[in-house]
Amino acid sequence: MPIFRHIFLVLNLLYPAARAVLFRIDAERAHHLSMKGLRASENLGILGALTSPPEKKPVTFAGLTFPNPVGLAAGLDKEANTIDALGTMGFGHVEVGTLTPKPQDGNESPRLFRLPEHQALINRMGFNNPGIDQGLANARSSTSFKGIIGINIGKNKVTPNEQANDDYAIAFEKSYPWADYITANFSSPNTPGLRDLQSEDAAGRLLEVLKNLQTKLHQETGRYVPFALKVAPDLDQEQISGLSRVFRDGGLDFLIATNTTISRDAVKGHPNAKEAGGLSGAPLTQHSTEIIAAFHAGLGEAVPIIGAGGIFTAEDALAKRDAGAKLIQLYTGFVYRGPQLIHDIIKAW
Ligand SMILES: Cc1cc2nc3c(=O)[nH]c(=O)nc-3n(C[C@H](O)[C@H](O)[C@H](O)COP(=O)(O)O)c2cc1C
Repeated sequence: MPIFRHIFLVLNLLYPAARAVLFRIDAERAHHLSMKGLRASENLGILGALTSPPEKKPVTFAGLTFPNPVGLAAGLDKEANTIDALGTMGFGHVEVGTLTPKPQDGNESPRLFRLPEHQALINRMGFNNPGIDQGLANARSSTSFKGIIGINIGKNKVTPNEQANDDYAIAFEKSYPWADYITANFSSPNTPGLRDLQSEDAAGRLLEVLKNLQTKLHQETGRYVPFALKVAPDLDQEQISGLSRVFRDGGLDFLIATNTTISRDAVKGHPNAKEAGGLSGAPLTQHSTEIIAAFHAGLGEAVPIIGAGGIFTAEDALAKRDAGAKLIQLYTGFVYRGPQLIHDIIKAW
């Protein structure tokens, strides 16, 4: 067994211990400490020495070649300043953001809550981010990551919904020259009214604005940058059928399903269940897979899907693939299970 394999095994044995310590402190503080620790160990070369590069299992998708099927979902690297360290841990793609045109602080703390008994999180961060200019500058200073970088964009809280498309257009145009792909997030439950943009009419208009901009920028730069919309899991069959038609007709490059849920059915009775925000993790596993299957039935092969929501095991990832996802993304499962999860999924894919 090569030496790096031994070291990697040690790192994975250490992860539960590190998590036990981190889970004793406030969730958001623990997050900032972990991100800082990751950046420091990457800069000192420790992370590279402790991790083994994942198996290569390239996936070609929306005209891009991803080194492996496992990506980091948006919201963990909101500032786009930890890409290299996350890449070293094995992610084939890293989606940074959500980034809005202007910087914003997000909601008041506390705004991130653990439900360990359910392997879940509730967050109402509210797009705290340094703004698209600073976010892109941070992302550009990534040097070693060889995978795919997605830029996830959103609207500022102060921007009324009638002007939301202007915000998306600003962030889209700024991201275009640099992003491998762009995701317009219109499904966070933590920006008041944002999910109203998922109506067929509003979604159609947003798609048209971004498609026109993409066509113009493609002509100007000679480079085609695909873009996705990211949907909520809180949609019924009628909404999914209607949106699928809009996405197919509008030429959407791909879909990310799903964001967090506002449902508390699966965590009723937990002291943190009353906290407002989006629920992620294990309570979402089955439901997000069903949403992926429903969108896949509506979209066929015309609009491929990246699956996210409660992936904690290789089997969860394969269930998303069986439901129609071409790639998957992790957030909460990565927080609970650490980097071994990335490698388990790649191996099983
Ligand atoms: C703390 C936290 C912050 C998040 N922030 C964002 C965000 O800024 N933009 C976004 O598109 N999704 C965001 N998400 C949603 C995740 O990207 C993902 O879609 C969702 O959590 C479901 O996956 P999971 O169950 O693996 O966490 C966030 C999730 C969490 C837990």
